[in-house]
Amino acid sequence: MRDLDTLPKAELHLHVEGTLEPELAFDLAARNGVELPFADVRELRAAYDFRDLQSFLDLYYATMAVLRTARDFTDLTLAYLERSVPQGLRHVELFFDPQAHTGRGVAFEDVVDGIGEGLRLGRERWGVTGGLIMCFLRDQPVEDAARTLQAAATRRGSLLGVGLDSAEVGHPPALFADVFAAARAQGLHVVAHAGEEAPPAYVREALDVLGVERVDHGVQAVHDADLLRRLAAEQVPLTVCPLSNVRLRVVDRLEEHPLHRLLAAGVRVTVNSDDPAYFGGYVGDCYRALREAVGLSDAQAAQLARNAVLGSFADQARKAELL
Ligand code: HPA
Ligand code: ZN
Repeated sequence: MRDLDTLPKAELHLHVEGTLEPELAFDLAARNGVELPFADVRELRAAYDFRDLQSFLDLYYATMAVLRTARDFTDLTLAYLERSVPQGLRHVELFFDPQAHTGRGVAFEDVVDGIGEGLRLGRERWGVTGGLIMCFLRDQPVEDAARTLQAAATRRGSLLGVGLDSAEVGHPPALFADVFAAARAQGLHVVAHAGEEAPPAYVREALDVLGVERVDHGVQAVHDADLLRRLAAEQVPLTVCPLSNVRLRVVDRLEEHPLHRLLAAGVRVTVNSDDPAYFGGYVGDCYRALREAVGLSDAQAAQLARNAVLGSFADQARKAELL
């Protein structure tokens, strides 16, 4: 059996704020004079017991209050890379949530520049390539998303694309049609979370109304045979996050995860960690967990890694290096 860490990987569904380990959260809290509503690392980790997406998001937004300066974002990004490179990470297109920071008085430029510096250092130290995808919070007013896109003009060259995340049910993709059209018109790539907790109709809407090039999660598509056929025919990448789906109770157990059904339908599935500090594993850990729980074969693991490279926004030369 192959050592899965040696498989070169691209990660396409990774929220940089979701890589904030409790130890770093307390270090940054001390550095910035921010109070966390937990006594210590143990108490914070004990709170990682989620009922659903919203119960996770509540803790995720509360904890990121310790992120205040560009240096904090650089340290966060580097800590993620340092953990992921030994697991085979070679390319990452990471999400960040600017509204969750600018709403607390952190400058948009500090967030982007800080993460960008982390990626630059990662490339220098380990040869990891990648870029930033700016996500809009779908549970905030669409006007805020539009303002965020405008604010991003000062850092347009630092962005690969835009995405859509946060609480899904009741906040369908179509609400953001105009913002996504504006992003596309600027030449930005577009992706969106859809079909994590909400029904397959959200996946269709993300494709048809937002024009997304990848669907983040998308696992609910397994309940819609027509949609599955379409995803396979169009080779739309799904950025699936199996450990996240277990922790947020999208599925009861990893053994019941629809990954095999999606693969069997011919969908371009990729495997990702989503928020690794919260969900129990980095990208290589996700592959390993699938081997243990659902008997992922070496050939399937290689296919998943290949799908991620093919589904990435890397240029052709970099893709060829990674394949
Ligand atoms: N879903 C929606 N929003 C998020 C997630 C997720 O899995 N992680 C961080 N923000
Ligand atoms: Zn996500």
